[in-house]
Amino acid sequence: MIPRSFIDDLLNRVDIVDAIDRHVPLKKAGTNYVACCPFHSEKTPSFTVSPAKQFYHCFGCGAHGNAIGFMIEYGGLSFVEAVHNLAASVSMPVPEQAAESFSGQFDVDGSLDAAANSYRGRDVGISSQDLLDALQTATHFYREQLKTSEKAIAYLRKRGLSGKTAARFSIGYAPGSWQNLAAAFPDYASERMQKILAQAGLVIINDEGKQYDRFRDRVMFPILNPKGQIIGFGGRVLAQEEPKYLNSPETALFEKGRELYNFFSARRAIRDADCAIVVEGYMDVIALAEHGIDYAVASLGTATTGFHIQKLLRQTDHIIFSFDGDKAGKKAAWRALENSLALLTDGKFLSFLFLPEGEDPDSFVNRHGKEAFERQLKQAIPLSEFLFKELCAETDLHTSEGRAKLIGDAKPLLQQVTAPALSLILFRRLGELSNMNQSELESILQINRKQRTTAKSNPQRKQLVTPYRWLILMLLHNPGYLDRLDRELLSAIDENTEEVAALRALVVFLEQHPHLSIHSSSAFSLLAHLQDNPYRALLETIESETLKWDNAIDLDAEFSGALEKLLQTHRKKRITELYNKPLQALTDEEKRELQRLAAR
Ligand code: UTP
Ligand code: MN
Repeated sequence: MIPRSFIDDLLNRVDIVDAIDRHVPLKKAGTNYVACCPFHSEKTPSFTVSPAKQFYHCFGCGAHGNAIGFMIEYGGLSFVEAVHNLAASVSMPVPEQAAESFSGQFDVDGSLDAAANSYRGRDVGISSQDLLDALQTATHFYREQLKTSEKAIAYLRKRGLSGKTAARFSIGYAPGSWQNLAAAFPDYASERMQKILAQAGLVIINDEGKQYDRFRDRVMFPILNPKGQIIGFGGRVLAQEEPKYLNSPETALFEKGRELYNFFSARRAIRDADCAIVVEGYMDVIALAEHGIDYAVASLGTATTGFHIQKLLRQTDHIIFSFDGDKAGKKAAWRALENSLALLTDGKFLSFLFLPEGEDPDSFVNRHGKEAFERQLKQAIPLSEFLFKELCAETDLHTSEGRAKLIGDAKPLLQQVTAPALSLILFRRLGELSNMNQSELESILQINRKQRTTAKSNPQRKQLVTPYRWLILMLLHNPGYLDRLDRELLSAIDENTEEVAALRALVVFLEQHPHLSIHSSSAFSLLAHLQDNPYRALLETIESETLKWDNAIDLDAEFSGALEKLLQTHRKKRITELYNKPLQALTDEEKRELQRLAAR
């Protein structure tokens, strides 16, 4: 474990401009540096690096982070590797700290620690590192077992896997007995190890306190997080049994809706191919890799989520969903479509490939080979086409009722699309299909298109308009302002917007980490400490606004201005509230308050 204070020192010492410039040549632009974004393809630079705050932000794809984050995202390094790499570049020796418990550790592995802390029944004294170590040991053990299991080897052979591919995916085998892992963990039965294994999802403890392995007589597929750490397994039966696949439960390390199978290894290939394929199963990913198609990932027995799509869109502009041609596959594809609409920007291209009924990517590529599969990929239908195909499937467009239904069904979907060109194209198409001209359609869906155009026409002013946003911006820029923030005022806000919630979350965080707000102006971005905050995306967007500041901005005045605005809003609301009460219903305290408020 690396002490948190060292991370702070390191980020103070390293200059993010140097760190990034070594990999992506930067150009000076005003107070910042810019380049074409390495995380998505673009022709004009929207990747911006702030030397003042030591973070990068891409206005195109939303990639955001500090120097460590850059090394992880760009270099595909683990957190520890990234720290070592950066430390070496400024000749700082990395201290090690005994891994006793979580507290005081930097939460970069933020996602891990934060999740771990909220994990039901988690014991103090067991760290996420303990869980990672256990999963690593188990992987090693399962791989060893595969070498001596004839039936598992025969099974993988039968499915067309070479030894090389099996090794590449660290495929293993969990033998059939109930306590296999005792051979891998000498202290298997100790209370502490029992807890670690249970929390890692490797063993199950029954009502009588007996422990047994979760995975028995299964081919084991380790699941890696984006840092390359093993966080769980999928296990497949060899014969026809139920369930066919058993997956690790959700643990402190493993959240299914966020992880994609093979993402860590596929990242480079996805960038090279400028395309990601999303398939349904482990074996689809592996069979494609066996045939030299390395840019496929799979969701883990769940629907494709917005997280998944966002993660992939940071690597490439082009995603192809290749699901089974059956009903379940169609349904999965539709869910993926629904979860993507809000995330699309013009220039992103999502499409859907449905293989012939009864085939999945695994069987198809094994039967017909790489070229045939890649030809299929070219035939994938664009999202817009899939959308209308499905919407029209059960609607009779020859009747007025059918066309009205189509508009009703399409409306909530189209409303989610904020990409201007795509949105226009979808509306046009809807017009054609429903036999309405554009202006009729626009008048039916008027509100939304209006909203969209005004929001688009002046994004900057709109974004900076609320005082909450300003306060967040100021606190991110200078946590020392926390002292000047009136908590009573903060708790009196009764607006329930995401910005207010994010402001509150940020204040809570700063209060819990007083060492961060001691420095009046921190030299690096706070957001590294907020990896797992639910408002992280919003905070990142807000932080990126500092990139547009010029030097002349008077921060003190802006902060006071935002506070004053808030105070006035509150005051007005309270005055109205009190005025609306009949005079005799006011308490003496309220009367005094009203006088005070009115006097200002
Ligand atoms: P499929 O049933 O399509 O499996 O499930 P597959 O990948 O084609 O499997 P093979 O070819 O028979 O080996 C797709 C995915 O759904 C999840 C798994 O993640 C699987 O890869 N799944 C499926 C489960 O979690 N449990 C199950 O019992 C079945
Ligand atoms: Mn299959």
